[in-house]
Amino acid sequence: MSEDSPKVLFEITENHLNTGLRGFPVGTCRTSKVDPYTGVSYVGHSIGEMATWDPEEVVFLLHNKHRPSADELVAFKADLASRSKVDPSVIELLKSLPPEGHPMEWLMAGLNLLGMTGKTSDFQQDALNLIARSPTVIAALYRIRSGWGEPIASQPELGLVENFVHMLGVPGGDEVALTKLLRTFYILHMDHGGGNLSTFVGKAVASGLADMYASMGAAMAGLYGARHGKANQDCLNFIKSVGSSDPEEIERFIRASLARHDLIYGFGHAVLRAEDPRATVQYALGEEICPDDELFRTAANMREVAVRVLKENPKVHSPYPNVDAVSGTLLNAAGLTDSDYYTVLFGWSRIVGIAAQIVDERLHLRDGKGVAIYRCSYKAENQG
Ligand code: MLT
Repeated sequence: MSEDSPKVLFEITENHLNTGLRGFPVGTCRTSKVDPYTGVSYVGHSIGEMATWDPEEVVFLLHNKHRPSADELVAFKADLASRSKVDPSVIELLKSLPPEGHPMEWLMAGLNLLGMTGKTSDFQQDALNLIARSPTVIAALYRIRSGWGEPIASQPELGLVENFVHMLGVPGGDEVALTKLLRTFYILHMDHGGGNLSTFVGKAVASGLADMYASMGAAMAGLYGARHGKANQDCLNFIKSVGSSDPEEIERFIRASLARHDLIYGFGHAVLRAEDPRATVQYALGEEICPDDELFRTAANMREVAVRVLKENPKVHSPYPNVDAVSGTLLNAAGLTDSDYYTVLFGWSRIVGIAAQIVDERLHLRDGKGVAIYRCSYKAENQG
């Protein structure tokens, strides 16, 4: 091989076929990196470091690839606020959606309505508009579908997360605790490398030059699946079904689940081989905001018990808590008790990273030419 031959990154054998592209390098990612042992970092900043930043700082970082100065942050917040107006027809149309539709189906509809009423077809502009407008759509769908009443008027000058909490208007909710939790939740879920399913799908659809809104709708369809974003909904239900925070009860429950070959929700990850630092941040947050909550205590005790029991099986490569292990118990304790909405909250946050990666693939990579339309190949089988 000559000195300037391209480096071989991955040898593909027939055993790799039909394995969901697991581990195949297919592109480059400018927003975030997932290390199997230390977890995700955004543009070189560890998730633990960023967990207490202003959420808008992290949005800026993912889109501009540097942390904003104080002046840049003020200007960025004002810019997002100025982009946040949602066409009233979007909210009216949400009111006509069937309540039996899952909140993620409502979100996909809402994103396409945003596109139909406000797209510019400039990926960069649409990325920022979408980040600024999605809180209004999500808060409205939450209120309409939950029967909480009319949508609440936006006050974008409050800040992205603060305004979202204000527009949610959770009945009986504690806005201060919920804001504290959602500021962290929003940052933790924004991005997770280039190859997770929803991000990959969004970028693939955008590579055919579908606009940002349609691409994001497709990405959210990817997130909707139980093996991807919907796992956070299933995880709270799993913790509830333990019925006790007593470590011995938890151990019995986990062993019985494993004997039935059931999933241990919230544990294991395709890439991570240590506790997900996004879980670590949330365990600590739970000790601050809801230390005595029974479901949080169940999740906190499961952290030790599940890892210990799962490690008994040498075939389990990733027995550690992932981002979903505890998030549902915190949302529940802060007043968002219906787990059907948890994937929508994940989506609200992940829109930030997916939008940044779509912009990078369309406008910056390959010296500005953009990534080519995705077109992989399949080996023919049983075709004569
Ligand atoms: C995550 O946030 O953990 C994911 O999007 C799943 C993944 O990285 O494959």
